[in-house]
Amino acid sequence: MNRNLYIETFGCQMNERDSEIMAQLLGEDYYLETSSPEEADCIVVNTCSIRGKAAQKAYSLLGGYRTLKERNPDLVIAVTGCVAQQDGAGLLARMPHLDLVVGPQNIYRLPELVRAARDRAARTTAVELSPTFAIPAFLPKMEGNRQSSPKRFVTIMQGCNNFCTYCVVPHTRGREISRRPEDIIDEVRHLADHGVREITLLGQNVNSYGLDQPAGNRTTFPDLLRLVAQEAGISRIRFTTSHPKDLSPELMVCLGQINKLCPHFHLPVQSGSDRILARMNRKYTRAAYLEKVAALRQACPEIAITTDIIVGFPGESEGDFEQTMELLELVRYDSAFSFKYSDRPKAAAADFPDKVAEEVKSARLARLQARQEEISQEIIRELVGKTVEVMVEGKSKAAGDQWSGRTPENRIVNFSCDRQLHPGQLLRVILEEACRHSLRGRLVS
Ligand code: SAH
Ligand code: SF4
Ligand code: F3S
Repeated sequence: MNRNLYIETFGCQMNERDSEIMAQLLGEDYYLETSSPEEADCIVVNTCSIRGKAAQKAYSLLGGYRTLKERNPDLVIAVTGCVAQQDGAGLLARMPHLDLVVGPQNIYRLPELVRAARDRAARTTAVELSPTFAIPAFLPKMEGNRQSSPKRFVTIMQGCNNFCTYCVVPHTRGREISRRPEDIIDEVRHLADHGVREITLLGQNVNSYGLDQPAGNRTTFPDLLRLVAQEAGISRIRFTTSHPKDLSPELMVCLGQINKLCPHFHLPVQSGSDRILARMNRKYTRAAYLEKVAALRQACPEIAITTDIIVGFPGESEGDFEQTMELLELVRYDSAFSFKYSDRPKAAAADFPDKVAEEVKSARLARLQARQEEISQEIIRELVGKTVEVMVEGKSKAAGDQWSGRTPENRIVNFSCDRQLHPGQLLRVILEEACRHSLRGRLVS
C-alpha cells in the first residue's frame, strides 16, 4: 500500500541532500512524494536555523500544520534539520501536534521512528550528536529522480569545528566528520554512470576534509580532488565552502593541475575590518585574505571569486563598514551573498554588547548590495566577445526557446540552438550580450 510523503526543505545544500536521503529511505517503506501537504500521510519539515528569519519560517509552517493533524490524527509530522537539533524536545512540548524531532545525524533512523509514530507508540526526539558517528554509505536512487540535471551535490563531510561567534552550525551539526573516501568515490561513480557530469563536493569547510582521520593514513582534500578527477564520466568538479584560513597552497596547486576543477572559488570574507574579523573569530586578517585572493588569481587569472558578507555584526562602526565596502573594490567579487547579522541561540555573539540598530543594518545592506550589483555587471560586461565552454543544463527558465548552461566560472549563459541538446553536453559559445545576472551567446559552429 502506498502512502503520501510531503517534504519541505529550507537552508543549505546539505539539507537538500538530506531531504533526498530521507525521501529515498521512506520510499523503501512505500512513501511516495506528493506536492500537497493536505494529501500527505507523513510530513517532513527539514529546517534551517542560520538566521532568525529562516527559523521563523519553519516555526510558522509547522504551526500551520496543526489543522491538518486535527483533521487526520493518523498524519505523522516530523521536524528535521538544524532547528530540530537546536530545540530538541522543547519543540514537541511547544507544538503538541508534532510527532518527531530528528537531528541531522539521526535521519537514517527516520523510517523506524515514523513507523513507531504511525502506531502512535511514541512521540520521539532523536538529537544525539556523536563525535564518532560514521556517515553511512548511501547511494542515491537515480531512477524516477526529481530532476534530470547533469549536476549533483556530494556531501563529503558533516559538521564544523570553527565556532565563528555569529554561527549556529557548530551547535546544530556537531564536530567535523569526514566521509570515507571510498564511499565518496562510489557515489561519484554511481552518479556518473547515470549521466551526471558535474559534481559539487559539499562541506561547511571542505579544506579540513580528512583532518579528523589519523595522520599518515589520511586522504586530504587535494587528494580527494585528484581521486574524483580520475572518474572518467565526470567533466567538472566544484566544491563549497572553503574557509579562507584553511585555503592551502596545496589546494591552489590543484587549480593548475586538475583541469576538471572549475575556476570558481566561494571564499566567504564576512567583513573587511580586522577588528570585526577578530570578534567574529574568523582567524584571518584582511591582509591575509587579500594575499590569498592574489595568490588564487596568480594561479588562475580567469578565476571567479564569490563571497558571503555579514553587515551589522555587534560593534560594527561606520568605519568598519567602510572597510567592507572598500574590500568590494579591492577584490571585485563576481557576486556576493550578503546578510544582516542575526542573533542565534548558543552562538557567542548573541551575548556581545553594542548591537547595531535594525535600520542601520538595512541601510548598510542596501548600500553594499547596490555597489556589488554594479561590480557584478561590470565584470560580466567585460566578457562580451569572449568564447567560453558551456555545459548544457536544459531549456532556459526565462526564455523557453533558448538553451541554458554554465561556464566553468559558474556564469549562466543562454543561447539559441535548433538541434536537440543533452544535459551535460559541453559546447563552445561566443558571448554577445550581458543581461542582469546572465549572459546571452551564440553557438560556435
Ligand atoms: N560554512 C560556511 C558558511 C555557512 S552559513 C562558511 O564558513 O563560509 C552561510 C553564510 O550565512 C555565512 O557565510 C554567513 O555569511 C551567513 N551567516 C551565518 N550566521 C549568520 C548570522 N547569525 N547572521 C547573519 N548571517 C549569518
Ligand atoms: Fe559557521 Fe564559521 Fe563553521 Fe562556516 S566556518 S559553518 S560560518 S562556524
Ligand atoms: Fe541552515 Fe543548518 Fe545548513 S543552519 S544553512 S541547514 S547547516
